[in-house]
Amino acid sequence: MSGDQIDGYGGPAAQGDLVLDGAVRARANINVALIKYWGKASAKAPEDANLPAVPSLSLTLDGLYTETTVRFAPDLEQDRCTLGGAPLTGEALARVSRVLDVVRRRAGVASAFDVRSFNHVPTAAGLASSASSMAALAAAASRCAGLPDDPAAMSALARIGSGSASRSIFGGWVVWDGPAARPVYPAGYWDLAVVVAVVDAGRKKIGSRAAMNRTARTSPLYGPWVEQARGTLEAALEALEARDLGALCQAMELSTMRMHASAMASSPPILYWQAPTLAVLREVERMREGGVPCGYTMDAGPNVKILCDVASAHAIAARVGATAGVRETYVTTPGGGVSVELVTQGAS
Ligand code: PMV
Repeated sequence: MSGDQIDGYGGPAAQGDLVLDGAVRARANINVALIKYWGKASAKAPEDANLPAVPSLSLTLDGLYTETTVRFAPDLEQDRCTLGGAPLTGEALARVSRVLDVVRRRAGVASAFDVRSFNHVPTAAGLASSASSMAALAAAASRCAGLPDDPAAMSALARIGSGSASRSIFGGWVVWDGPAARPVYPAGYWDLAVVVAVVDAGRKKIGSRAAMNRTARTSPLYGPWVEQARGTLEAALEALEARDLGALCQAMELSTMRMHASAMASSPPILYWQAPTLAVLREVERMREGGVPCGYTMDAGPNVKILCDVASAHAIAARVGATAGVRETYVTTPGGGVSVELVTQGAS
């Protein structure tokens, strides 16, 4: 895609013009969290939505993205948003409008927006696309409304739609520990890959927002989870700086298990894993014992993501792909930040 790519490394924030004649299209990749966001700080104003209770570290992934086109629609009474051509309604639309409300307030405009979004994250991959969707929405709407070209402001805006989206504004390795995320190393910093083992591509029974709120409200392990999170992040950042894959996987697995343990101890309990999830974890342990450096992580679902060297990624995918209950595997590599371009009237 042509257009301006945000790498987050320098450059002053420039104020743009309102895009009245045409539209703005943005493309944002998904990201995988190595050190998990699980828990929100209390919000007093709508703009405080999804402030994290714990710091997180992610890797943006190449080639799995959302593309979103935004234009002003002064004739509409309320925002219109389609995903893959189907109109969003209810809470899904309200979530989009919460982001657009902030854009309107900051830009001093009243008009509704027309938003068209396409996910290029195969449904079969069982990967959440909320991070890429909200990051693409925030970037496209900001540019359309002439807001300053400021990646940190876009990240904070994306966060209002979905916490993890704050990280998808940036490419490569990203830390999120406050209103906005920030890039720490670019995608090319380290030749790693992420193998996705799909156990179940269906919708999860309880979404991350409700699950982390229930964990915070009812889990006796939530307090300790929050207390130890910073230490795990620091261990991961040290490992990242040293390009020590073994140590990075250790920190990643600790964060994953502690997040899931805190959720499992909720009332009623939240258990995302299925039997093949555990089988894949055991396979990862066996590969590691056999001298292949790799580690696992799971988000709010049963699918497993395996961090490894690029050189061993396809062998790992073949091995976990042969595990009973694994439906599909995908090999992905680090990707870049959101990119934005102007499109002419009539294009979509
Ligand atoms: O921001 P959300 O609501 O998509 O929550 C993301 C939660 C996890 O994926 C489990 C962890 C993370 O840091 O992405």
